[in-house]
Amino acid sequence: MIFTRKKNLKGELTVPGDKSISHRAVMFGALAEGLTEVEGFLPGADCLSTIDCFRRMGILVEEQGKERLLIHGRGLHGLKKPQDILDAGNSGTTTRLISGILSGQDFETTLTGDASIQKRPMGRIMEPLTLMGASIESLKGNGCAPLRIQGRPLHGIHYTTKVASAQVKSAILLAGLYGDGPTSVTEPALSRNHTELMLRSFGASVETDGTTASIKPQPRLTGQKVCVPGDISSAAYFLAAGCITPGSELLIQNVGVNPTRDGILRVLKRMGADVAVFPADNSDGEPVADLLVKTSRLQGCILEGDLIPALIDEIPVIAVMACFAEGRTVIRNAAELKVKESNRIDVMVKNLSAMGAHITATEDGMIIEGGYPLHGAVIDSRLDHRIAMSFAIAGLNADGETKILGAECVNISYPGFYRDLDVIG
Ligand code: S3P
Repeated sequence: MIFTRKKNLKGELTVPGDKSISHRAVMFGALAEGLTEVEGFLPGADCLSTIDCFRRMGILVEEQGKERLLIHGRGLHGLKKPQDILDAGNSGTTTRLISGILSGQDFETTLTGDASIQKRPMGRIMEPLTLMGASIESLKGNGCAPLRIQGRPLHGIHYTTKVASAQVKSAILLAGLYGDGPTSVTEPALSRNHTELMLRSFGASVETDGTTASIKPQPRLTGQKVCVPGDISSAAYFLAAGCITPGSELLIQNVGVNPTRDGILRVLKRMGADVAVFPADNSDGEPVADLLVKTSRLQGCILEGDLIPALIDEIPVIAVMACFAEGRTVIRNAAELKVKESNRIDVMVKNLSAMGAHITATEDGMIIEGGYPLHGAVIDSRLDHRIAMSFAIAGLNADGETKILGAECVNISYPGFYRDLDVIG
């Protein structure tokens, strides 16, 4: 895809359903008794990988149009041993959450994914799930997928995680459904809490206290109707585009603004962005809002500490915005960026430098000196959807042509991204 400079991005749009919530709706629907109806499902490749895994374990998932699903749950003990290896594709959420579920089954499964997944650390789930009694082997012995998981009767544990990760927390809580006593997880900072909220609405006994979440073993979950709000991580590209592109005004409707995910809104305020938040109807305990953004004069700022988990997936596009801000932006405590779909510190620094940005990598983040104009370059997305989308926004605000390689990877989380950008541009 090739991008050139644009002005006056205008209009209203809705972004596709939240990826994290879409995954969970399929998983919890499969484990529940009765029917789960999902509205606003994200038909991105990652969530389709989750559907595929559960179909292979005997779950009927009806797709009624692209964004509506009917999941015929078979109960906590109703999954069938798959005939084949389960393939999570590019999806870390699928891999880690399903591992928690598979740990409590009475069969053995092998779980793998694409080249990126096979490099991402799974030791962080293998350790707690093994402590609970599951047997999990990294087949290449490198702590990554493919994983062979032998489900066993599980014990409840208390576990303190080293990183704030909703995928790790959720894997442990899902295994906790099958435990012989309560299970709890304490994290160093609060990660997204969609699992806690949605499991509770399916009838699980989940409690939270600060950064600790606990679950009691569960006789049953009950199918629900789930309305998935728009994904704030997808809205972030339009928030950034609206701020940095001259003459712009965009209204993004029906965006999930769960406080464990809304760090981007807090950062935009700090940077001085002209963004208004209009709360809309809550859906399933997940707060929702319409967001109005206008071209803004931005200031650099510091991003660190407990804020990081609330905007971890938005850091690539925040780095792009920081190039257009006055002064310095410092991002720290974000070493997790190195183990996402790509090493997002390296990839952002390399590609933004190629466009003329003044950016340096640090051990756990990056430092950006704003105010140096960007020029076009050839950008290798490394097939990381968030990198491709971030550089589309940079390319709209750079001199000359910005050519993005592997641009189709946006299908992982936002299949209509380029079309939506076209509509407002
Ligand atoms: C996710 C959690 C985050 C996030 C990912 C989705 C989830 O990962 O980066 O895109 O749905 O639980 P970590 O749990 O590894 O931080």
